[in-house]
Parts: sequence; structure tokens; C-alpha cells
Amino acid sequence: MEIKRVGIVGSGIMGSGVAEVASKAGFEVTLRSRSDEGAQSMVAGLGKSLAKQVEKGKLDDAERAAVQGRVRTVTDLGELADCDLVLESIVEDLPTKKELFGELDRICGDGAILATNTSTLSVKDIAGATGRPEKVCGVHFFNPATVLPLVELVRAEKTSDDTIAAARAFAESCGKTVVDVRDQAGFVVNALLFPYLNNAVKLLAGGVASRDDIDAAMKGGCNFPMGPLELLDLVGLDTSLAIIEALHAEFEDPNYEPAPMLRDLVKDEKLGRKSGAGFYDYVKK
Ligand code: 3HC
Repeated sequence: MEIKRVGIVGSGIMGSGVAEVASKAGFEVTLRSRSDEGAQSMVAGLGKSLAKQVEKGKLDDAERAAVQGRVRTVTDLGELADCDLVLESIVEDLPTKKELFGELDRICGDGAILATNTSTLSVKDIAGATGRPEKVCGVHFFNPATVLPLVELVRAEKTSDDTIAAARAFAESCGKTVVDVRDQAGFVVNALLFPYLNNAVKLLAGGVASRDDIDAAMKGGCNFPMGPLELLDLVGLDTSLAIIEALHAEFEDPNYEPAPMLRDLVKDEKLGRKSGAGFYDYVKK
């Protein structure tokens, strides 16, 4: 099947990033946010990001207008009825995702693929909320989606070959490199990355080194583009905690026990860049 219209549910960091990537690749994108404010902030963010690329000479004005013109924001889920592929990018919570997939199953055409951007939840469980598990798969982008080249493609128990082929073609059209992964918490990247990030918080709490020195150590010692504490702030501390908890639940390894300091920051609503404070403080530009 050919994918032309892409629906995205969720206007957070990932949903907005994927909307930009898909629109740049020529897809008609309908992005659904629960609120008008969410939709407006996504449109403003897209405008800013595209303006930066025009400034850098990576896009011209006509391209910028075309990319912007291909993204429509809506608040009513029913507006996704004519999409060929819907990618969900909402909160990492299984009951919430299952409820959404049940609704999408009722709303979308029989041929539509329903994909999830989950990083740790079972795609099989999400697919079970629909009457079309063969048309459900995971398409996992990385943050920032506009820059990072990878997509993990997740085949759940009943996903069909046609669904995998169409989802792969979509991700590749978006310019991404695709790796095939099994339906297991964390897939490859997060299963390896989050124990490392969690242990960085434990080192900080244990006083082994300061925040800045931990980040400088991993940038200088491993040539990583960001230190672990900066990266946690970028991903979002609430999202990170949810990922670490899911890994801990799946593997029952004490090494995956969430760092208490991470829980405390989330409790204090210090969620990283998106809330203005996390391990670092951020001034809204
Ligand atoms: N479209 C196209 N290109 C863009 C862009 C956009 N919207 N926004 C930025 N870029 C380009 C920039 O132009 C720049 O390219 P150039 O050097 O050729 O001009 C390049 O991307 C880098 O952008 P910036 O200069 O703005 O930023 P930095 O060089 O400081 O890099 C970073 C920032 C890309 C975030 C880098 O620090 C990085 O890669 N960090 C690691 C991120 C990471 O590990 N993410 C994974 C998180 S885990 C995850 O996502 C899983 C999930 O389930 C939680």
C-alpha cells in the first residue's frame, strides 16, 4: 500500500518533530493535539524551526511555505479518518494508548496502518486494543526527530509483512535508517541507553562528580554529543522515568531501579527543557 496522508497524534516533542520530518518528505500531515494551545504551539515551533533552516540556507522560502502548508493541525480525532498511516506519540502509559488505539480503529479506514512511537510498551498489547492487529506496528523515532537518522521498526506478534513493508517505506522516505527490532521493552537503543542515563543520576546523587563534570566526562571521554544529564533534560525527566520503570518491570534487574533523585525531580515537576528546569535551568527563547 502507498502512504500519502499521515496522521500524528500528540503535539509534544516527538509528535511535532515527526510532523516536520514527514511534511519535509512530501507527506500530507494531519497533527492532532488535544487542545488549541497545543496545536498553536506546534505550529509556532514548526515556523521557528523552518525559519532557522532558511537562515542557514538549508531551505528556501518556497520550500518553507510548502512544508508548512502540508501540516494541518486539528483537535478532533475524527479528522484522521482519511489517513493511510497514523503514528501515535502520546504519553507512555499503556491504558491511555490502548484507549486511543481502540478509538483510531473505529475512526480510520480499514486499510490504515496504526503505528506507535512507544519506546518501551508492548506493541502487541497496544495492537490488542484494535480489531486489526496485523496493521499495527512500532515506528520509533529519536529525539530530536528532525536530526537523528534512526527509526526502530517493531514487528509485533501479528503484524503483517505488508504493514512492515509500508512502514519501512514511510520511514525511509523520511530519510531515516531503519533497524528491525523485536517487540521487547526498550528495543535496542533505550535498553542500552537508559541504564547508562539512570546510573549517571546515581553517580550525581552519590557525589562522585558534579553535574557539569559528569556531562563533561562523557562528552570528552566517549565523544558523545551531549552528557547524560543534558540528554535526560532533552528527553524529559518524566518520559525518562517512565522508560526506566518499564525496563525495570520487564527485566527485573536491580541495575534498572530508577534513581531516587530522578523520581524526586519529577515529583517537583522539574521535567527538563520542556518545563524550564531539570538538571539544568532553561530560559524560554
Ligand atoms: N531540520 C533539519 N536539520 C536540523 C533541524 C531541523 N529541524 N534542526 C537542526 N538541524 C541541524 C542543524 O542545522 C545542525 O546541522 P549543521 O551542523 O549542518 O548546521 C544539526 O542539525 C545540529 O543542530 P544544532 O546545531 O542546533 O545542535 P547541536 O549541534 O548542538 O546538536 C543535538 C544538538 C542534535 C541534540 C546533539 O547534541 C545530539 O545529537 N545529542 C544526542 C541526542 C540523543 O542522543 N538523542 C536520543 C535520545 S533517546 C530517544 O530519543 C528515545 C526516546 O524513546 C526517548
